[in-house]
Amino acid sequence: MKIKIVSMKRAVAVSIVLLIGSLASLPAADVKENWEKQCLKCHGPDGKGDTKLGKKSEVKDLTDAKVQEKFSDQELFKAIKEGVKEGEKIKMKPAEKLTEEEIKTLVTYVRSLKK
Ligand code: HEC
Repeated sequence: MKIKIVSMKRAVAVSIVLLIGSLASLPAADVKENWEKQCLKCHGPDGKGDTKLGKKSEVKDLTDAKVQEKFSDQELFKAIKEGVKEGEKIKMKPAEKLTEEEIKTLVTYVRSLKK
């Protein structure tokens, strides 16, 4: 029993360290700003796509684990970088103004939307 408590404390300590580490490496404010400026109008604040434009363009619910499963990180990256087309019809414009680094953090952001 005693051993268990000690290892639990350790696990908590390790996860706190990991949490702080990931917060420090992610420029959270910037990615959120990019999302709000360039993605929110279609995908919504939480990724559900519950906006006027989102409904019109039939975006998928990015909070849905089943939707997320269908995409690899590379595919998400490509969708953001090059946009999404259906035949000749552009469904989502390529994110021309974003750097590779910003797109990568957006991929991480999209992953974090999953419920
Ligand atoms: C004009 C509306 C619009 C904007 C703005 C927009 N998207 Fe999209 N997005 C779409 C549509 C439409 C799809 C395709 C949905 C589908 O596959 O049926 C899509 C697809 C995606 C996908 C791939 C998943 C999928 O459903 O194919 C990701 C990831 C994504 N968008 C992220 C972003 C990010 C990040 C931004 C901001 C840089 C952004 N989107 C801006 C409309 C938009």
